[in-house]
Amino acid sequence: GQGCTHIFTIFGASGDLAKKKIYPTMWALYRDSLIPENTQVFGYARSDLKVEDIRKKCEPYIKLKSGEEETFEKFWAANQYVRGTYDKRTDFEHLNHALTRAEDNKRENNRIFYLALPSSVFMESTKHIRETCMAERGWTRVIIEKPFGYDADSSEKLSKHLSGLFTEEQLYRIDHYLGKEMVQNLMTLRFANNLYTRSWDRDSIASVTITFKEPFGTQGRGGYFDQSGIIRDILQNHLLQILCLAAMEKPASTSPDDIRDEKVKVLKTIPAITIEDCVLGQYVGDPNGKDEDSKLGYKDDDTVPKDSVTPTYAALVLRINNERWEGVPFIMRAGKALNERKAELRIQYRDVPGNIFSKTPSRNELVLRVQPNEAIYCKMMNKSPGMSFTMEESELDLTYRNRYADAKLPEAYERLILDVFVGSQMHFVRTDELREAWRIFTPILHKIEGEKVQPIPYKYGTRGPKEADELAAKNNFVYTGTYSWNSDL
Ligand code: BG6
Repeated sequence: GQGCTHIFTIFGASGDLAKKKIYPTMWALYRDSLIPENTQVFGYARSDLKVEDIRKKCEPYIKLKSGEEETFEKFWAANQYVRGTYDKRTDFEHLNHALTRAEDNKRENNRIFYLALPSSVFMESTKHIRETCMAERGWTRVIIEKPFGYDADSSEKLSKHLSGLFTEEQLYRIDHYLGKEMVQNLMTLRFANNLYTRSWDRDSIASVTITFKEPFGTQGRGGYFDQSGIIRDILQNHLLQILCLAAMEKPASTSPDDIRDEKVKVLKTIPAITIEDCVLGQYVGDPNGKDEDSKLGYKDDDTVPKDSVTPTYAALVLRINNERWEGVPFIMRAGKALNERKAELRIQYRDVPGNIFSKTPSRNELVLRVQPNEAIYCKMMNKSPGMSFTMEESELDLTYRNRYADAKLPEAYERLILDVFVGSQMHFVRTDELREAWRIFTPILHKIEGEKVQPIPYKYGTRGPKEADELAAKNNFVYTGTYSWNSDL
């Protein structure tokens, strides 16, 4: 409210994430008056910078509409920059003084700290924040970004460290997929439609596939990426969150902890993934590629070791051992440098029992298209219109740009950072949830890394290794290749 001041501090203000996502997000929230007008933004980093320099770095990622210039000036006027290290307590004390000076000491003062920092300085900086920078007359909330450790043990160590400093209510672990429109829509789709509620189980569903595809490589992020690989970068967090929302039981209410309780519960029924349920790939350059990036393979990046076996593609099968899902494979696949950009959840139904037609109906599929071109569509058999009595594959189609042509879908980061201001933890990852996620993925990561399992090479711009299709085929996913969704053309 207007009775208090808010300061939003970005650690790692000179970095990639800050300029591409966090500053543009703060601008969007400010422009749309979604955050209190007197919110101030502080940048903090090691480099000797001025607000002007930060502004220049951010401008390529901000599209100004005409008429917004004045507000844009006001936004930057509400910005400050403080230079400091991440290991010296005195630097954090200095930051605290700057924050205090910017606050009105007659009002309640709330502080948000966004940590866009490399994991090497994470432990120290959080300790210094706790000891020197907490709000004295208001709340303090701390937003953190992955990596949350690199396996079960390291993550547990980090969680212990954090819970020694902050309460769960003060901690906001971001998984930005939880801020996407269609991911947030999953609860409504499942629990507000009796049509789907009744058939959402092993009796009706054959397999569930969650897909993430990107048409570009690691593009200069190779050094970072090589430490994590596609499983840590995408599957263990973004795709697993989608799985949780698709597979969990109905929560007792829509309160954040009731929802997160259900996510933890379903995760607990998933055994650790085995190597038999896994296909790994790494992209190589395409000499006939249409641009420079596509001619380069993953290992052509100078920051990637020449003998790297880090996967840039992975297909995994998860099993859920509970009454609803036993026997229904959950297939996850994600890759860089593929043929298209797409993220979706695909529920494939079982064959029609007792078919009476001369042709075998192909399977129904319910697809939640996360991006691009948000949509829900249900692939179904339909009588070919007209005199004939044959049938064909068609769809019930809820394409957002048609049905909600005027809707503005905010960026994931905008929704999530606004949630932090409001104090809603519904779309953030709780400590116990994270622990279960690592339990499921750690054994396979250790196996891959310990034994240097060789990924299968695939060419830049393709669908990835064909072995992944074979894995899906073995797991109740039937691909006919006879259908393509209209709006996708
Ligand atoms: C990030 C990953 O978490 O998500 C990146 O680190 C990936 O590798 C990105 O490109 C994808 O996000 P989006 O919102 O563009 O699908």
